[in-house]
Amino acid sequence: MAERAAQLSVDGQTIDLAVLSPSEGYDAIDISALITEGYVTFDPGFMSTASCESSITYIDGDEGILLHRGYPIEQLSSSSNYLELTYLLLFGSLPTQSEFDAYKEKIRAETYVDDRLLALCATLPQHSHPMGIMCSLVGAMSAIFHHETDITDAASRDQVAIKLIAQMPICAAIAYRHSVGKPMLPAKPELAYGEHFLHLMFSEHEDDEVNPVLATAMDRIFLLHADHEQNASTSTVRLAGSTDANPYASIAAGIAALWGPSHGGANEAVLDMLAEMGSVDRIEEFVGKAKDSNDPFRLMGFGHRVYKNYDPRAKVMQQTCDEVLNELGVENDPVLQMARELERIALADDYFVQRRLYPNVDFYSGIILKAIGMPVELFTVIFVTGRTSGWIAQWKELVSEPYKIGRPRQMYTGSRNRDYVPIGAR
Ligand code: SDX
Repeated sequence: MAERAAQLSVDGQTIDLAVLSPSEGYDAIDISALITEGYVTFDPGFMSTASCESSITYIDGDEGILLHRGYPIEQLSSSSNYLELTYLLLFGSLPTQSEFDAYKEKIRAETYVDDRLLALCATLPQHSHPMGIMCSLVGAMSAIFHHETDITDAASRDQVAIKLIAQMPICAAIAYRHSVGKPMLPAKPELAYGEHFLHLMFSEHEDDEVNPVLATAMDRIFLLHADHEQNASTSTVRLAGSTDANPYASIAAGIAALWGPSHGGANEAVLDMLAEMGSVDRIEEFVGKAKDSNDPFRLMGFGHRVYKNYDPRAKVMQQTCDEVLNELGVENDPVLQMARELERIALADDYFVQRRLYPNVDFYSGIILKAIGMPVELFTVIFVTGRTSGWIAQWKELVSEPYKIGRPRQMYTGSRNRDYVPIGAR
């Protein structure tokens, strides 16, 4: 029995509910037995609902803190790299050199261009949205690798994770090069993760080199997007995984959820918003629209369900933005200038201050990606590539222990029981 209990008094009866203490964050009131008392809770958008226990990532939204297995994102982004973080997310501790070398060897073994995925992509129209292509390619992986996947076997679960982490940058490059009518390059497993991705994306020839500053920035962007507790797409992956579904199919479901502009699609939406804004002269107009409760427009890249402070990833992203634009000699990029002025104006505006709306991870990522030469339609694909490690780590955490199928209840507001009326009598 938990040490503490909450009492819920309703309709003259008192219901005891256990209070659970996490290692960090809000105490949790266990309401799972409430249904036996004839009640359900109502929490649209899951504002106050913890859907699971997890030890992978912790966010303190008030303080703007993000920890992966206890390590602050600021330290990981300055001292680690994306592949090492994927190991940490999957296995719970930082690898020794020999562990990391063995892990990287497994990733390299899965780093190849799968001709079946290449052929599938070729069947899609050239103008297809890359996020739809990613859904298709990862969905196809569920078809191709289903019979060799055993979710009850730990080694098979790890193999799924390694294959997905290795294949995502290649799928992204397949999608992009198809969209611009360029033939795919062969994989170069010996390259570092971010470097390899930029090579597959933009190189004309196999021996072309990648700018090391851009390669480092790309790796850091993947690292900053790796995992983020039970966000909409991760919750989608967990819900699909809770039915014992194929893990590749569960990740494809996560890709679909991330596509929305309220979630991972925001980085693309930030650039579209800045393009529509056109100049600093129109910032006040757009801020006014964002503040108008009758206008559905929201300031893209601002606000967050959990962060009511600066998103710590946005701060690192802003530093990376400066590095990339300085390296490329475009530090006076007009879009960046507009973004900086928009941020300054919004952060001084009572509407945003009172609602604790700050720039989130998407606000600057789009500007960096644009400077690197990434087409806007690829921005969320970059998010997918980074977040795949978080999704599959969360899926692994779920299916590695006993779990229940996720099946929320509802508050029914439809018609009460009534008799069918024949069409002639309506
Ligand atoms: C990501 O969950 C995650 O962790 C996601 C993510 C991850 O790594 O997985 O961090 C990635 O999705 C980041 C968020 C990217 N989305 C955007 O940048 C789109 C713009 N942001 C908004 O759509 C919004 O802020 C959400 C969707 C992110 C959060 O929505 P909520 O939780 O409904 O917002 P809220 O409850 O904090 O809103 C409080 C008030 C409301 O106004 P009032 O009813 O109080 O008058 O703030 C307003 C909102 O209308 N508001 C905004 C706003 N965001 C919230 N007003 C103008 N512009 C905005 N961007």
